[in-house]
Amino acid sequence: MPDKIALITGSSSGFGLLTSIELAKAGFRVVATMRDLGRRERLDQAATAAHVASQLDIRALDVTDFDALPAFVDSVVRDYSRLDVLVNNAGFAVAGFAEDIKLEELRLQFETNFFGAVAMTKAALPTMRRQRSGHIIMVSSISGLHGAATVSSYSASKHALEGWSESLRMEVNSLGIKVVLVEPGAFQTDIWTRGAVMGENATKETSPNLQRSLRMRDAVAALPKRDPIAVARLIASIAQDPNPKLRYLVGRDAKMQLALKRILPWKWHEKLIANFLKID
Ligand SMILES: NC(=O)c1ccc[n+]([C@@H]2O[C@H](COP(=O)([O-])OP(=O)(O)OC[C@H]3O[C@@H](n4cnc5c(N)ncnc54)[C@H](OP(=O)(O)O)[C@@H]3O)[C@@H](O)[C@H]2O)c1
Repeated sequence: MPDKIALITGSSSGFGLLTSIELAKAGFRVVATMRDLGRRERLDQAATAAHVASQLDIRALDVTDFDALPAFVDSVVRDYSRLDVLVNNAGFAVAGFAEDIKLEELRLQFETNFFGAVAMTKAALPTMRRQRSGHIIMVSSISGLHGAATVSSYSASKHALEGWSESLRMEVNSLGIKVVLVEPGAFQTDIWTRGAVMGENATKETSPNLQRSLRMRDAVAALPKRDPIAVARLIASIAQDPNPKLRYLVGRDAKMQLALKRILPWKWHEKLIANFLKID
């Protein structure tokens, strides 16, 4: 039996890099994509260290290059004859109080985190429909289930991904295609540094939220962040599960936040968060 084929977006760092390695270790042939091949060194080194370099095929792909995505997926299918797993992982976070975020910044957030995942999925569906099999794994977030202060744009993009994926799963279940949402809490990846883009007006002296933003930034920097390997291993195990669930919440903080949201009266819940993040 030939290797199973996995295609993953955003493999230059974080979950994408680690998941590429875990999938390769599990025996998948992994088409690991990144928008800038100049950033492939970390993945190359990790693959060599794990003795899986020959299982990886590293290619350039920007998920907002929408017109190019169908031809890109077709080229993968032409080369390997099939596509078993798509991991929609690429993402970043626009940060800043909602009042300060420009509409164009909100739109850019959606282009990658929502439309990028949608467009990749639409490009993969014809092949998976033909095969009558395939896993589509969306890297969402606890912020897709729970609004988070100062990342309203990020939270909105992940809520959109949650709703779209939940609907899609109902539509493609009978075709043998499994749609899965992975919802991590805080894990130590580049999204907290390089991947967090402050809204242009959010840090200006003219922002009415500047002092609260600075207090919040310190509170977020102090949050404990876990080892991202847990998320990569989870995604690799979902990829091998013939009957995965719709949702996988990962990280104690994520589980705690959702439990508190469900148990506490909403007014207590938001007060608790405002105190914790020092945004009152
Ligand atoms: N870490 C967490 O605490 C956490 C929690 C919940 C959910 N998530 C989600 O996990 C996913 C991966 O993030 P991460 O935490 O691993 O952060 P990361 O280390 O910053 O990785 C993000 C990856 O996405 C890529 N990317 C960004 N825009 C792209 C585009 N237009 N096309 C292709 N690739 C693009 C980045 O590429 P470049 O190297 O070129 O920038 C990078 O490879 C994201 O969807 C994020 O929302 C993370």
